[in-house]
Amino acid sequence: MLWIPDVDQKPFSISFDDGKTFGLTVFKRGPLTEKLFELNLGDRVGITGPFGTSYSIKPDYHYYMVAGGYGAAPLGNLAERINGAKIDFIVGARSHDLLLFEDRLKKIPNLNLHITTDDGSAGTKGRVTDVLEKLLENQNDDKRILVTCGPELMQTAVLALANKYDTKCEVSVERHMKCGFGVCGQCVVDDLGICTCMDGPVMSRTIANQIFELGKYHRDKTGNIIKF
Ligand SMILES: Cc1cc2nc3c(=O)[nH]c(=O)nc-3n(C[C@H](O)[C@H](O)[C@H](O)COP(=O)(O)OP(=O)(O)OC[C@H]3O[C@@H](n4cnc5c(N)ncnc54)[C@H](O)[C@@H]3O)c2cc1C
Ligand code: FES
Repeated sequence: MLWIPDVDQKPFSISFDDGKTFGLTVFKRGPLTEKLFELNLGDRVGITGPFGTSYSIKPDYHYYMVAGGYGAAPLGNLAERINGAKIDFIVGARSHDLLLFEDRLKKIPNLNLHITTDDGSAGTKGRVTDVLEKLLENQNDDKRILVTCGPELMQTAVLALANKYDTKCEVSVERHMKCGFGVCGQCVVDDLGICTCMDGPVMSRTIANQIFELGKYHRDKTGNIIKF
């Protein structure tokens, strides 16, 4: 959780971590993130955490990582931390200029990078899940796991493929968070009643399949339902 006094506190994923320093990748969108972009080198922010769950590290598995938008941040970090795993990394964006970490990902050993853009300005034109399904059809590994982070409808499409191909899968369920450590109840999901800040954001296929609201709706900061 990143806090700027007198502004707000919001959740962010860890984008890189070398054991001495860590980094966040921030998309400028509202009051807190706009303020963050106005800060100078040496200005301070409050950080608490890390909270919640993270992706499994299974070096003997074949990983299929599917990232959209700033979802490339935690998955880029995961790809750098798994030593020895074979990785197919599928990253999607609306257009080439919005694509994150192309150079960074190309440096990771054992990683095949697949790029998709909505407008065809880089990589394959179309959806990340089209590329994922072709890979799943053509590669027959004993041990494989799909991990995904990004827009919820993209993640639910990945989850549907995991169900179709009966494959392990981990998704990142992002809900509005206030405290970040299980006290306020803001981030609870229907109808399991679990907190996504503590029992998530990363959840297994089994749990994700039981979240009724996944891919249908989420709640804003006052608890009102917002449909996807
Ligand atoms: C687990 C998790 C990890 C995240 N990781 C990243 C990341 O690595 N990089 C990144 O740029 N963003 C990340 N976000 C989203 C980030 O928290 C929002 O972009 C940020 O809260 C926006 O705040 P704001 O004041 O600038 O804009 P606001 O105008 O307050 O919000 C803009 C939009 O961000 C979302 N949002 C706002 N407040 C929250 C909140 N408290 N909890 C969850 N979503 C919120 C809503 O969809 C809202 O419409 C993550 C969110 C979650 C839940
Ligand atoms: S954000 Fe407060 S309980 Fe999850």
